[in-house]
Amino acid sequence: MKIKKQLNKIISDALDKSGISVERVSVNEASKAEFGDYQYNGIMPLAKPLRRNPREIAMEVVANIPENSMIEKVEIAGPGFINIWLNTAWLESMLTIAMQDKRLSVSTRENPIKTVVDYSSPNMAKQMHVGHLRSTIIGDTLAKLFEFLGDEVIRQNHIGDWGTQFGMLIAYLELSDTDADMSLGDLEEFYKNAKAKFDEDSKFADRAREYVVKLQSGDEHCLSLWEQFIDVSLKHCEDIYSKLGISLDRESIRAESSYNDQLPKIVNELIEKNLLVDSDGAKCIFVDGNEVPFIVQKSDGGFLYATTDLAAIKFRAEDLQAQRISYVVDARQAGHFSQLFQIARDAKIVNDFTILEHVSFGMMLDKSGKPFKTRDGGTVKLIDLLDEAVTRANSMIEQRGTQEKDDIDRVAQIVGIGAVKYAELSINRESNYVFDWNKMLSMDGNTSLYLQYAYARINSIFAKYDGEIKPEFKLGDDLEKRLAVMILRFEDVLYGAAKESMPHYISTYLYDLTTLFMKFYEQNPILKSDVAKDIQKSRLALSSLVSSTIKQGLDILGIEVLDKL
Ligand code: ARG
Repeated sequence: MKIKKQLNKIISDALDKSGISVERVSVNEASKAEFGDYQYNGIMPLAKPLRRNPREIAMEVVANIPENSMIEKVEIAGPGFINIWLNTAWLESMLTIAMQDKRLSVSTRENPIKTVVDYSSPNMAKQMHVGHLRSTIIGDTLAKLFEFLGDEVIRQNHIGDWGTQFGMLIAYLELSDTDADMSLGDLEEFYKNAKAKFDEDSKFADRAREYVVKLQSGDEHCLSLWEQFIDVSLKHCEDIYSKLGISLDRESIRAESSYNDQLPKIVNELIEKNLLVDSDGAKCIFVDGNEVPFIVQKSDGGFLYATTDLAAIKFRAEDLQAQRISYVVDARQAGHFSQLFQIARDAKIVNDFTILEHVSFGMMLDKSGKPFKTRDGGTVKLIDLLDEAVTRANSMIEQRGTQEKDDIDRVAQIVGIGAVKYAELSINRESNYVFDWNKMLSMDGNTSLYLQYAYARINSIFAKYDGEIKPEFKLGDDLEKRLAVMILRFEDVLYGAAKESMPHYISTYLYDLTTLFMKFYEQNPILKSDVAKDIQKSRLALSSLVSSTIKQGLDILGIEVLDKL
């Protein structure tokens, strides 16, 4: 139910009728229950240029709202705020429609678009790090969200599989007598050892440099070593994807190397369009507002990360015909993407209507506010981190003693991985994120466990009730009405989250919904024998909608629910 859109229309018509033209009317959820369900606070700024009293304008606008089934009551507060209460019968009929619909009345977009989501995108020479974890989790949620709203999503895992370091790595791989799987067990270690050898053994260093050239010119021996290397590295990533339940497969991979052929062409295109300048032999572009130039070709003729990204954006815009391209990459690359987008538009590689967005995110910090590292200062291995989450969940669940013995492992998996994901998705992605085991695995507060627990609890109510739960609503008190409005906000929340690529809008909503439900559940008994039948049925139906909304919401966040917890 797109409530806001409908209310915007009603208010905007009333403004029109009052002879006031407003470009964009935006009605919002009321900040407090006493202000109604929704409020329009746009009169104040209008009054000044009109030299009129805002309260007077508000009165005129309110008088011009026609009779309608949606609004029960409108009040003017303070200097012209319009507070809106929704009509109970209307809410009941909307709840009925939502309950009969698998999508809970969430419509798909009128004009679905083709969207590329570039996420995860780890570098093959190294172990995936916490930054990639963030990109993977946020990106996967966005892909699922866009898909749920009807967009055609093309996932692109832009893995870093090219660059001079690969000469050294394959030369080192060639030296080891075990197979690639074995010797690459620990990529970080392997990289360190290769680098050490490169620094101390000049013969090896020469071979490494020779292999870079050979690799670039397509030498078969070098290519096959390189392929082995990439394959094993990818398996490490896939381990993590599968543990996390991430929807990235090999089909989604379009590696940096796949753009190699396009690089000279893209540079030529920029030359033809007169966009390149020469700086100490390097070809680059200076984009206003950026200190560093965007270098597309080094003086030795080599291409760079930036060149590949230009080729990739061209591929996405022209070949994939994407109408929105979302790059889920950490905030430190903000400069790179702002330049890339500007250049792509200036060069007419991307048209003016295509949405380009850098979905940036902050750093992962430890509890003391420092970048997340192991105790001895090394990078935390993601696989260890995920395993620890499951182990911790396991002991917690064992302590609770509510699960069957043979089900504990499955439940721990869902709880542990859910906690890691939700912790990421519940904060504004732009801010740095403090990793805290105790907080993320807590039953209270804005955590996945809190939501999973509420879901299981509702389920246990249903288990005790023998009868069918049907969409028969009779909203008894204010709290039930508020819960109804909250349930029906779901669609607005999803569209808002998709528009701004902000997953935490969804988690914040789910948390608010659950908190309100818990309050309702405390105050309004459901199964007690003295509850009137029609009220009981309505409360059951409300609970059922809350549980389906939690389930659907968590599903978009890539988190499973549990029938029992
Ligand atoms: N591999 C890069 C890194 O780890 C991220 C790539 C992001 N995507 C892109 N099209 N540049 O920093």
